[in-house]
Formats: sequence, C-alpha cells, structure tokens
Amino acid sequence: MASVLIDGIGSLVTNDPALGDGPLGLVEDAALVVEDGRVAWAGPRGRAPGHAEERFDAGGLAVVPGFVDSHAHLVFAGDRTEEFAARMTGRPYSAGGIRTTVAATREASDDTLRANLARLVAEALRSGTTTVECKSGYGLTVEDETRSLRLAAEATGEVTFLGAHVVPPEYAGDPDAYTDLVRGPMLDACAPHARWIDVFCDRGAFDGDQTRAVLTAGLERGLVPRVHAGQLGPGPGVRIAVELGAASADHLTHLTDDDVTALASGDTVATLLPGAEFSTRSPYPDARRLIDAGATVALAADCNPGSSYTTNIPFCVALAVREMRMTPAEAVWAATMGGAKALRRRDVGHLGPGAWADFVLLDAPSHVHLAYRPGVPLVRRVWRRGRLVAGGDRPVGPEASAARPARA
Ligand code: NIG
Ligand code: FE
Repeated sequence: MASVLIDGIGSLVTNDPALGDGPLGLVEDAALVVEDGRVAWAGPRGRAPGHAEERFDAGGLAVVPGFVDSHAHLVFAGDRTEEFAARMTGRPYSAGGIRTTVAATREASDDTLRANLARLVAEALRSGTTTVECKSGYGLTVEDETRSLRLAAEATGEVTFLGAHVVPPEYAGDPDAYTDLVRGPMLDACAPHARWIDVFCDRGAFDGDQTRAVLTAGLERGLVPRVHAGQLGPGPGVRIAVELGAASADHLTHLTDDDVTALASGDTVATLLPGAEFSTRSPYPDARRLIDAGATVALAADCNPGSSYTTNIPFCVALAVREMRMTPAEAVWAATMGGAKALRRRDVGHLGPGAWADFVLLDAPSHVHLAYRPGVPLVRRVWRRGRLVAGGDRPVGPEASAARPARA
C-alpha cells in the first residue's frame, strides 16, 4: 500500500503524550504519515517527512483516533421498540427483557443475524468506530451461543462469550443448573471461538457465586473475564472482576467506596456506558469519582436492542461530558485509548508510530466539538488500517488537493 501524508490537520489527537500536549498528545497544525496501514509518523506538519506518495489535505479540520467500542451486543434479531416506549411512560428496565430478544434470536437464520450484525458494524464505522467488541448472549443454548460467537468472529477479533447473560426460560426454576451448563458444556463448545468471557452480575441475572464460578471456568479455558457490574444495583460484580484480574468492569452505575478503591488500585478498566442510562432513564454513573480516585475509565456504546440501541460513540462522549462530569479531553481519551486498554490492545486507540492507521476526520476544528455540538454528524471521514472506509463521498476543503503527490 502506498504511503500517504495526511496534511493540514488543524488539531491532531494522538493519545501519545510523547508526541504532543497532555494525555491526548495534542498537536496543532499537524500531519500524519500512513504506511502499510500503520502510522509511520505523526507530529507538527512543518517537520513531516517529505517522501509520501500521496497527499490528503485535511483542510484545517481535527483528526482523532478511531473510536474503540469495547462493549457491544450485536448478534441478535428483532428489536424492543415497545419495551422502550413503555419505559418512557415510567416502566422500569429489568434484566428479563433480554428473554424477548433470546426468543427472536433463536428463531432467526444465520443470514438474518449476519445481516443485522453487518448493518450495525457499518453504522458504527460511519460514526467513527474502527474497533468493536461483540458479545454473544442472546442464544443461551450450546448451539445458539456457539453460532453467535462464530458470527461475531466474522465481524471482529474481539469476541466475548456471554452465555451468563440471563437465565433462559427453560431453566427458570433452576438457575444453578443453567450456570452449570454455561461453565461446562457451553463453555467447552464456545471457548475456541472467543477471547473474552463476560457475566451479567446483577439483580435478575447472576449472583456473586454464579459469576465467580462462570468466570473461573472461563479463565481455566484461557478466556479473560470482563463483567457487567452495578448496572441495576450495587453488588459483588466489581469486587469479583478485580479479584479475578478482569480486563474491564462495565456499567458501574451503582458503586460502593470499596468498589471505587478496588478499581483505582487494580488493572481492571472501569467502562461506562451512558447510552444505557439514557435509554433506561436511569441516573448516570459518576465518572468524576472514578477518575479522581485514579481508575482508568473507558466509554463504550453498549449497543443492544434493550438498554442502549445506539452505536454512536460521539453521542456517548457528549453524554459523558454533560452528565458524568468528564471533561471533553477525558471523554475522547476514554472512547479511544480507554477502550483500547479495556481490550488490552496497544495497536489501536492512539496514533503513535506503529499503531494501526485508524482515524477520524471531524467536521470541526477540535475534538471538543464532539461534546460541544451534540447530535451533529461531525464524523466526516473514517480511515481503518490506512484505508478510507467511510465518508469518501463528501468533499473536504479544497478537494482538488486531495490525493495528489506530496511533492507535485
Ligand atoms: O449491557 N445488562 C445486560 N446486558 C445489556 C442489556 C441487554 C438487553 O436488555 O437486551 C446491557 O445493558
Ligand atoms: Fe452490555
């Protein structure tokens, strides 16, 4: 692949403090050189190496790393429009709604599930998400969970086995028997198709003992834990996540002081999902409390048909800034580098040399606009692995200068 100079960047978020100011590694009047799908160089445009074969003029707009969405449930069929509408009249969200989607998912063909997944991944890409995690959890039989993971793996390498999402109706009277299925035969079938294992540890889903049993079994099979914790009420999820060395504890709407201390002292990333609070009309998690305590915070969209039917990370950034006391810089970092840390990835989430050239040209002079201009489609173009993958049909600045040889 030819080398490309992305020139005329008004403001570049590298997330590499060695390259620019602050944790965002911010460089004004910047350039980026892409070679073989990776960042070869990033810095002030006056110092850019002059050997690139092609040149793209960013027209003074801002560039940020592609968003890393570390929490998504994209293998499902149907939707839950009526449940959402009922919630907006005052009905509370409960874990039980998951069973509606389980029934629809079991009924659906592979092609239906695949098409829905592809639609959502493409939608996410158009709003700047270049890495996405994807969970199973709407199959809940050995066969349907395996199928969900196989399909997820067609879309991403970040695949998570979530057999312990909710107890399916056929095990309603015997949740422990279902837990045994998940950590036994279901895990045997699913482990080869996944990198991560997750449990919904909350009211109406799985308790502490069940969570620990499933995650421990997953660890023995080489899967690294991530945990849904503290979404609907306080519980043991965070403590278990940190004890077991989970990559991430997610939701965290209800936290004790001990939970905050545990997250601040361990390596488990605190992943916040404000789309879920928005769509369930719930209080938002307190990001400030976590950041001030020293925890690493990630932001993700939690796209699913029940609690958060959005793939849009800029929307989540705006919510995090307005409702969760994050600064714009913290929220952008959390949606890029934070997500990468939650997925234990060093090759995405930043634009330092060697990283994948996954980046977003914003229709704005600065990353701050992601929160300052909520709801406005600011994602102008998206590159993934150095290829323009979205927005190429919309002109940027003096279009005549795009993609012409750097020294012409
Ligand atoms: O992360 N909380 C558990 N799982 C999803 C919701 C799933 C659903 O309601 O279908 C979540 O919010
Ligand atoms: Fe979730």
